[in-house]
Amino acid sequence: MTDYIKIEHRDHVLTLTFARPDKKNAITNAMYGKLADALIAAETDNSIRVIVLRGEGDMFTAGNDVGEFAMMASGAFNDERHVSRFVEAIARSTRPLVAAVQGRAVGIGTTMLLHCDFVVLGEDAMLSTPFVSLALVPEAASTLLMPLRIGYARAYEMFALGEAMSAPTALQLGIANRVVPLDRLHQEAASVAARLAKLPAGSLAATKRLMRNAETLAAQIGAESQIFAERLTTAEAREAFTAFAEKRMPDFTKVAG
Ligand code: COA
Repeated sequence: MTDYIKIEHRDHVLTLTFARPDKKNAITNAMYGKLADALIAAETDNSIRVIVLRGEGDMFTAGNDVGEFAMMASGAFNDERHVSRFVEAIARSTRPLVAAVQGRAVGIGTTMLLHCDFVVLGEDAMLSTPFVSLALVPEAASTLLMPLRIGYARAYEMFALGEAMSAPTALQLGIANRVVPLDRLHQEAASVAARLAKLPAGSLAATKRLMRNAETLAAQIGAESQIFAERLTTAEAREAFTAFAEKRMPDFTKVAG
């Protein structure tokens, strides 16, 4: 099977690259598994001092693989599910997490940024969280973190209407640290990672622990996961996934909630 997550470990920096550009880096269960394994292993590997997340091609990631959502909804997906492991691992990571985002970051592509410590956006970055458009609910503790970060009104609008947020707005609202020209994106992220890698790792980890309560985040992730799983089996979700497969707009007015 093609390796859709590339892992590189150099100069104390672990770089995890979503590498499925023909599907806009949509993340499959197997990809979540590999990401979770890498994040968990990094916790006990002192040679890894910083982790960078990035995507190949013109997009960071189009979010969860919608085809797999459809399989889960119909009961046709029986593999062990890795998404919760990934989400919990990123929420609990004590390493500085740096993200380099070009193009679209959809769904978990945006919510994972709320767990990153330093977010560099390319000028063309567009962040969106269209969970409600798919008849689902937001995940990765974003129902807690997004309102905290950008305020309830903006967070609700982002979740409910699913519209994309531009890079300058994300910078202004505190989701990102920098916006750079696209041709400097990966260089800028690598340079930030190199600076962080030279700092005292124990102090960085302690600072992060003081700034983020991992237990609170894990509890929110648990609550969201339960409702997410229930939503996956609704008629609304079936309509959303069928519409995606048929490349048409869903019509929720014809299905019961
Ligand atoms: N899951 C599975 N496949 C996906 C995908 C996803 N989340 N996002 C894109 N793809 C696939 C498309 O089906 C298409 O496959 P095909 O070439 O076999 O038809 C390919 O990737 C290219 O996507 P396309 O829609 O043609 O690219 P685009 O540049 O016009 O649009 C997006 C990009 C991201 C705006 C659009 O693909 C999209 O809205 N994707 C769904 C995003 C989503 O809802 N994610 C879940 C969030 S919870």
